[in-house]
Amino acid sequence: MLEIDATRIPLEFDSGASIPTPFYIYDFDVLDRRLTRLRDRFAGLFQPSFAVKSNPNRALIGRVLSCIDHIDASSAHEVERALSVGVSPDHISWSGPGKRRSELEVLSKLGLTIVVEAEDEIELLSEITASYSAPQDIVLRINPDHVPKGFGASMSGNPSQFGIDEPAIGHAIDLIKRAPGLRLSGFHAYTGSMCLTPEPIAENIANLCAIFRKAVALAGIVPRTLIFGAGFGIPLHAGQKALDIDALHALVEPHIRELASDPVLGAARRLLEVGRWISGPTGALVSSVLSAKTSRGLAVAVCDAGFNNHLAACGMMGSVFQKNYPIQAIRRQGSADDPPQEQMLAGPLCTSIDQLARRIELAPLRRGDAIAVLMSGAYGLTASPTRFISHPEPAEYALSDGKLTDISESGLNRLGSLIPGLRP
Ligand SMILES: Cc1ncc(COP(=O)(O)O)c(C=O)c1O
Repeated sequence: MLEIDATRIPLEFDSGASIPTPFYIYDFDVLDRRLTRLRDRFAGLFQPSFAVKSNPNRALIGRVLSCIDHIDASSAHEVERALSVGVSPDHISWSGPGKRRSELEVLSKLGLTIVVEAEDEIELLSEITASYSAPQDIVLRINPDHVPKGFGASMSGNPSQFGIDEPAIGHAIDLIKRAPGLRLSGFHAYTGSMCLTPEPIAENIANLCAIFRKAVALAGIVPRTLIFGAGFGIPLHAGQKALDIDALHALVEPHIRELASDPVLGAARRLLEVGRWISGPTGALVSSVLSAKTSRGLAVAVCDAGFNNHLAACGMMGSVFQKNYPIQAIRRQGSADDPPQEQMLAGPLCTSIDQLARRIELAPLRRGDAIAVLMSGAYGLTASPTRFISHPEPAEYALSDGKLTDISESGLNRLGSLIPGLRP
């Protein structure tokens, strides 16, 4: 089983006391299986790097580390989260547009790889590191010209805050070469996300190999790190099928084997940045029905979680139209023979856009029933405006070997002073 199984989601603690909803639950055994599958399938080709932004829960990052050891952090506080669970700095890459001077000052002392995304960022970092005894390793993020057709949500080929446009990399490389305190150690590209078909992902990886070769030749370096943004999607809506990673492996292997045999690029570590494919299917948001009624002929169940707890399921994270996530009833008072009926699952917020599902076929729900929004382990809790309308923040639980552990975090960015100087 490579997805959380709704029938395994407990609604009670061992003591028999019910678990207050809403809550997120992550099945760590499923997480282990997904990580092992990814690592083993691409062994020898890539080293997976977990994109913390998809789920920054520290217990979850800790569990990821039992299988893979590289982390992609997108903010200084994500770096701090990774360090707090024992990731070594040389296994962290820090990317993201708009890095603050104060963060660059503090994090450049730690020995991680900084992915630079703009020429003024290169200048700023060089100003800071020029006086250091050893140069800061940087990786240059490239915004490729070409995005394969059918790639999913694209982050390239258009005006963008991410990276250096492909035609401008020569200029950026010259700038880095002249900048004291910096050592160009490789290249990064992340073209987009949520692709469910192997061919465009393979085409993208082949394209990145070509771009990295060109960039390495321009820079005249022996790269130490090449970071491939994977774009692996997960099926979220009816009719979507899981990405076939065996087929993808077969398509990608020749390109990577060729790169690996290159006398200049061959020895570089090749990181594959993956977020949602790892964490998404492991998790669910569990919510109770607070009220059920019929409005103008449609059954409406008002749940205790809405877009304040799961922005993406409510269609507000990059989708043009809301399409329902997979949702199942996990506690229901009606009879097992009740036929499914079309219903709206609304959230508790005072706005009509707060709908977990606009129209979904489910057996009738009543006050006190509970539903699980599956495929919610990525871009769930921390990608949602939890403070809007001040409802209680969902707890987070890990399920492993049938045991439930509370792994809730509040005050996400207040870990204390693990990195001295970082603003809380
Ligand atoms: C640079 C970078 N790497 C990795 C990811 C992770 O993407 P996903 O969760 O779709 O795998 C993202 C997502 O936006 C990203 O911007």
